[in-house]
Amino acid sequence: MRTEQPKTIYLKDYQQPDYWIDETHLTFDLFEDHALVHSRLSMRLNADKTSTDKQPPLVLDGQLLELIKVELDDKVLSAADYQIDDDSLTLQPGAASFELAITTRIEPQNNTALEGLYKSGTMFCTQCEAEGFRKITYYLDRPDVMSRFTTTVIAERERYPVLLSNGNPIASSGDHENGRHWVSWEDPFPKPAYLFALVAGDLCLLQDSFVTMSGREIDLRIYVEAENREQCDHAMDSLKRSMRWDEETYGREYDLDIFMIVAVNDFNMGAMENKGLNVFNSSCVLAQQDTATDLAFQRVEAVVAHEYFHNWSGNRVTCRDWFQLSLKEGFTVFRDSEFSGDMNSHTVKRIEDVTFLRANQFAEDAGPMAHPVRPDSFIEISNFYTLTVYEKGAEVVRMLHTLLGAEGFRKGTDLYFERHDGQAVTCDDFVKALEDANGADFSQFKRWYSQAGTPRLEAASHYDATKREYRLSFRQHCPATPGQSEKLPQVIPVRMALLNTQGQEMALQLAGESQSRGYETVLSITEAEQEFVFSNIDQQPLPSLLRGFSAPVKLSYPYSRDDRVFLAKHDPDGFNRWEAAQGLAVDVLQGLVEIHRTGRPLHLDQRLAEVYRTVLADTSLDAAMVAEIIRLPSEAYLVELAETAHVEAIHFAREWLRAELARALKSEIQQRFDALPTAETYSADAASMAARSLKNTLLGYLMLTEDPAIMHVCVRQFVEANNMTDRQAALVALVNSPFDEQRKAALDTFAERWAAYPLVMDQWFSIQAGSTLSGGLARVEELMQHPLFTLRNPNKVRAVIGAFANQNLVNFHQADGAGYRFLADRIIELDRLNPQIAARLVTPLSRWRKFAEDRQQLMQQELARVLATEQLSPDVYEVVSKSLA
Ligand code: TRP
Ligand code: ZN
Repeated sequence: MRTEQPKTIYLKDYQQPDYWIDETHLTFDLFEDHALVHSRLSMRLNADKTSTDKQPPLVLDGQLLELIKVELDDKVLSAADYQIDDDSLTLQPGAASFELAITTRIEPQNNTALEGLYKSGTMFCTQCEAEGFRKITYYLDRPDVMSRFTTTVIAERERYPVLLSNGNPIASSGDHENGRHWVSWEDPFPKPAYLFALVAGDLCLLQDSFVTMSGREIDLRIYVEAENREQCDHAMDSLKRSMRWDEETYGREYDLDIFMIVAVNDFNMGAMENKGLNVFNSSCVLAQQDTATDLAFQRVEAVVAHEYFHNWSGNRVTCRDWFQLSLKEGFTVFRDSEFSGDMNSHTVKRIEDVTFLRANQFAEDAGPMAHPVRPDSFIEISNFYTLTVYEKGAEVVRMLHTLLGAEGFRKGTDLYFERHDGQAVTCDDFVKALEDANGADFSQFKRWYSQAGTPRLEAASHYDATKREYRLSFRQHCPATPGQSEKLPQVIPVRMALLNTQGQEMALQLAGESQSRGYETVLSITEAEQEFVFSNIDQQPLPSLLRGFSAPVKLSYPYSRDDRVFLAKHDPDGFNRWEAAQGLAVDVLQGLVEIHRTGRPLHLDQRLAEVYRTVLADTSLDAAMVAEIIRLPSEAYLVELAETAHVEAIHFAREWLRAELARALKSEIQQRFDALPTAETYSADAASMAARSLKNTLLGYLMLTEDPAIMHVCVRQFVEANNMTDRQAALVALVNSPFDEQRKAALDTFAERWAAYPLVMDQWFSIQAGSTLSGGLARVEELMQHPLFTLRNPNKVRAVIGAFANQNLVNFHQADGAGYRFLADRIIELDRLNPQIAARLVTPLSRWRKFAEDRQQLMQQELARVLATEQLSPDVYEVVSKSLA
């Protein structure tokens, strides 16, 4: 950890590197108490940048390394020939081309930051994105330096029978004396160091194969620890579906002879797309009906796809610098969400994504860490693997897809991959390829990459019966964000229709256009204020706006509650039916919060109950859609929407409404619940998952009636379920119920049964950490004493501390500030072990401006205490100092 003030890096300072690395030959000698890393680099001057007569020094990145030896063109350098500091090794090459050989010594067994080479359990593994390779050896650790790698791994054969790296295994492998063996790998595709990977362990293997569209047979392998061997089938199926989908949808074929996935227990993120050797958090690989919920199955499918898709959008075409991160992440998230939509339901997937975006990314965009999809500056790049770069970035790509249409978009991506294969490029290059392939002009559109903040879009309308004209007008403005006070209008595609009193879509003829646009159109809003006039409109329409959430904006239109009821029942667009029900529920809840705060009694608006009743009775609707429509907006989303969030009032109003709806609709809910099939034989197909989703949503409502008969149904489901989805849903309902005895019994049985399954126990932890019953902080402190809890495992930290601070708002925000103090203490403690995970825990505190005055002070106080801690990592320093600024 550095002691000097961390430095800010700016996009505007980007310069090409002074040197290139054509070849990288690595040898790893792995031992229990250290590892030796030998590198041999074929380097040359970057002639485009500097001439040979005054050759610049070579500055290699390196951190926490012990330098053992440096050789320049086979001559050993003495200490006088180079300089070392905390971040670099500098030397002066004598020629334009040269060979550099370096040996470093590192201690993977002591690497708790899980970046670079580290141990997860008994296994060696690596995580190099974004800047982890510099913790392995001195190197030009930047994505625009692409090199061909060969890697030899040497380790004890007994303990580490499996030795893996990127690319194809080359024939050479063998035994050394003393029980050590070695394997060599060669990756023919030049890549930046962040895509390097190595794994050594005692792993077992699920093997399969895939024949590509040109007829090549690919060897597919998933490596896991022996006890997890039975839990890989779903990941393997997902991989094969992803490979086929990328061929069919983008024309992209896999390029090596082998594709490997390795599951590790200790991992900072979801997974990593290292070339040919993806390393995964085991939570994103393992899925089996007894141990994983349907949600976990879908997550595995999505993450496997995401990492696989990176082989083209990220690896074959990579990022020039880390400011361009969304080039690969936004595009790849868009690709994986379309894939998931194709595999399951597009509407349900879109509802899930939009719900997540609005509750979380919108909050980020409105907070102190707000930044553009392509940031202008950062202190620590790890802090910029954000919802904005990933999720908003994907929305930006989705808008480009909407504006070009599927065919035009495909022409654009074909050109992009062809033009930039093997290069490290920018977001501008991506947009340029889409423009060139379509003759389009996205110069204004590109503001989505450079302006932070969520645009507000206000719509209004006027119907003139005598002229048979309908005017739809829009105003956009984007609020100020840190460092950006003035914003220019953005291009906002609004997919829309007009509905008549029967709920039918009307023909859309814009004044001045010779042809009708059909029954649905995309309006492209480009001005701060803009009006569209529809002709031949013979009755007052109700607009269905922003269908499919066609732009990541906050839309407002003066709908009455009755309008929303009408749309929730009649909009032919599934997404907007859900959106109307959500909007109605938000309106009702915001009203209840205000009433509750003035101490008046609450009343149920029967119109909301009526919408739910209609939806519950609609058996033609996808069961998963019914579940989505009757789910109330989350507390987090209500906090985001509020000017000043009063957490207790939000919690009280929402719980009151849930219980009130459950009572009002009890017989209808019970009826639908009973009519849904109880799965005798389990299936993971979309229809079965949808049925489970609805059934368990209904069970949640029924449990709120506190009827002992229903409690018994719930307990029976908990005991008899043949899958984790049903079992876990019953457990959640019991844990949040007033039935103390049954809650305790269920938790104990569960813990006993699943003690040997870390991922299942993560669920057990997070259900309790997220329980909003009073006394939450004490429960969380107790959970941290559980023998299976450890701060060294990021999944455990997320399951307990993360679930408490992010999903248990009433308890986290308890009035005396004890929740804040607890979180600050954990951040300080964790920062010494794992700065990336510590920095992510700051998020809930960073949002202090959202809350009432008393909470604001308590939260700021804790942030200040973290900032005053000695030897703070740059990661935590950046987030905390920006939060207080
Ligand atoms: N590129 C990874 C992805 O698929 C992200 C990632 C994995 C990562 N591990 C990381 C980013 C560690 C930063 C640090 O999205
Ligand atoms: Zn990614």
